Amino acid sequence: MQTKIKILSFVVLISGILMLSLFQEKDNPLRMVDRATGLFAYFFIFLAILSSEYMIQMKKVFGKGFIAIHHFLAKIGILLMILHPIAFAFEEKSASVLVPVFYPLMDFLELAGRPAFYLIIIAVSAGFYRKKLGRKWIKLHYLNYIAFLLIFIHAWLIGTDLQSGIMQLIWITMALIVVVVFIDKHFIQLKKLLQTQA
Ligand code: HEM
Ligand code: HEM
Repeated sequence: MQTKIKILSFVVLISGILMLSLFQEKDNPLRMVDRATGLFAYFFIFLAILSSEYMIQMKKVFGKGFIAIHHFLAKIGILLMILHPIAFAFEEKSASVLVPVFYPLMDFLELAGRPAFYLIIIAVSAGFYRKKLGRKWIKLHYLNYIAFLLIFIHAWLIGTDLQSGIMQLIWITMALIVVVVFIDKHFIQLKKLLQTQA
């Protein structure tokens, strides 16, 4: 099977599991939007991070360069990520749900999506202004990794859908893959580069 078809089948399969999980536990419409946007935002942000591991292969597989694919995934992820707390703010009839909480620790972890939201906005803005920011833009872009792990914890602790074994497995697998991408890009690939230059 062509790599492109395999990747698209994987995306459809995971999306199907997310939808199944969503409709297994019915909630009021705003809460359904909140859950759906949270789940799919996590998935698309994961895909945006994963795409960065395969920068060179993108053109060959999708016929488009890394930035085009990365941008496409990021756009969907960010749109869903913005809708997610908005739906919850409407449900609660309060904008205070957007304010990060740092103390006590358990509240910080359960509501870790709040600081993650702002970290992603900063990381993504750095992506847009990378030509103006010079090399330091990438350091800000690394905030995406921290944000992703905060979102993992947030969803794990308060997500309705994260109660089932299959969803927990998918969530842990995605988080571990992100850790592997980080280690590979920052330690293994860098080591190889330094070795070839020596
Ligand atoms: C949901 C949004 C996004 C996420 C989660 C994300 C995540 C990432 C990650 C994890 C990397 C690899 C960084 C590393 O470890 O070296 C990366 C690379 C990159 N991202 Fe993003 N990104 C997002 C949005 C964007 C946007 C909107 C842009 C541009 C406008 C962008 C431009 C880039 C570029 C150019 C690179 C390659 C950097 C290099 O030269 O190595 N990203 N992104
Ligand atoms: C101001 C920021 C945020 C607020 C107010 C917020 C609020 C919530 C709430 C109330 C839930 C529980 C929903 C439920 O399952 O009943 C939740 C779960 C979740 N959130 Fe957030 N969140 C925020 C940021 C984020 C961000 C940035 C992401 C990722 C992009 C995210 C992803 C998730 C996920 C994946 C779940 C689990 C959904 C489920 O299990 O159905 N959240 N969030």
